Amino acid sequence: MTRPDIDLSGGSFARDDESSDRSFYAVERPVSHLDATALATVEHLVGALVDGPGPAVLDLMASWDSHLPSSLRAGRVVGLGLNERELAANPALSQRVIHDLNREPRLPFTDSAFDAALCTVSVDYLTRPIEVFAEVARVLRPGGLFLVVFSNRFFPPKVVRIWREADEAERIALVREYFARCGGFTEPRLFLSRGKPRPAGDRYAGCGVPSDPVVAIFADRRGGPLGTTRELPESLRLPRSGAPDEPRARRRWVAETVCCPHCGERLSRWRVPQTPFTEWSSPVQLVCFNDDCPYYGGGWQAFARQGNPGSYRFMYDPDSGTCHPMPVPTPTAFRDSIEETEEWS
Ligand SMILES: C[S@@+](CC[C@H](N)C(=O)[O-])C[C@H]1O[C@@H](n2cnc3c(N)ncnc32)[C@H](O)[C@@H]1O
Repeated sequence: MTRPDIDLSGGSFARDDESSDRSFYAVERPVSHLDATALATVEHLVGALVDGPGPAVLDLMASWDSHLPSSLRAGRVVGLGLNERELAANPALSQRVIHDLNREPRLPFTDSAFDAALCTVSVDYLTRPIEVFAEVARVLRPGGLFLVVFSNRFFPPKVVRIWREADEAERIALVREYFARCGGFTEPRLFLSRGKPRPAGDRYAGCGVPSDPVVAIFADRRGGPLGTTRELPESLRLPRSGAPDEPRARRRWVAETVCCPHCGERLSRWRVPQTPFTEWSSPVQLVCFNDDCPYYGGGWQAFARQGNPGSYRFMYDPDSGTCHPMPVPTPTAFRDSIEETEEWS
């Protein structure tokens, strides 16, 4: 497994509030940590990845919602967290365990006790994540799933410094690093969902703020029958180049993730020019403005071979659900029509 070079020394896991987590989380917080659209995405992902008849599931850093879809018939669901009332309110749980992972990363479970472990919007609060990840590997059966989900919201005083200072790409690299350093898992895979419309009725609906992004990194405990990380279902997967239904699968993937299928960067909202010569099906297109994107990079060479200057950028039409090349004469061309990128974070 290749390991990104991240320095985890020198106070990386310090927090502004180093008071006891047990006391801090004793106060019940019956809130939703994601909007309804993002929660539905998490449920969909959990349902797609957690398999087997009656799987035993560990919900790590659990609260009142374990994000299990109703279609999932789990055999046993153990919630480990810090607030008794939140865990008591969680209808999915068959067992509730109060345990402070920052004081004691060792999990109070036997080896290979679970088929799947979930950690939703909480990994940023772990001060000893590599020890905890190693413990998750120990309590999973070989081939068992560890699914770590995060977004861009958190409670700053209790979040570790390295997370607070990182951007989204660095957070992805950081969680991959936890998987790599603990040594118990196959190569992690990434799932992204960004830029979906805010749910109707949500207090930020109509403010131009999209649904909370969902970032998931998952891997299987080493030693399973696959020998590698399970695949996402086709509807959530970026298609392999040359696959028979690649264009259709790619369109589905872009619609789901709002990312460029060539480089994985988020797509920008780009307001189309008002000209009498071109008719657009939607006033806003989604375009990849990443100058390091291989599609855009290759475009320079393709244009040069035809004796023309310029390249093309990847463009997705959200109304028709189709993908197109957007010709650009220079690297800066059309950038002035990018709509506020924060809307898609
Ligand atoms: C943002 S909430 C997420 C709750 C739940 N996983 C969800 O998806 O709704 C963070 C959770 O992490 C738990 N937590 C924070 N620090 C912890 C620690 N040191 N040990 C165990 N759980 C902890 C808290 O009890 C809290 O429920």
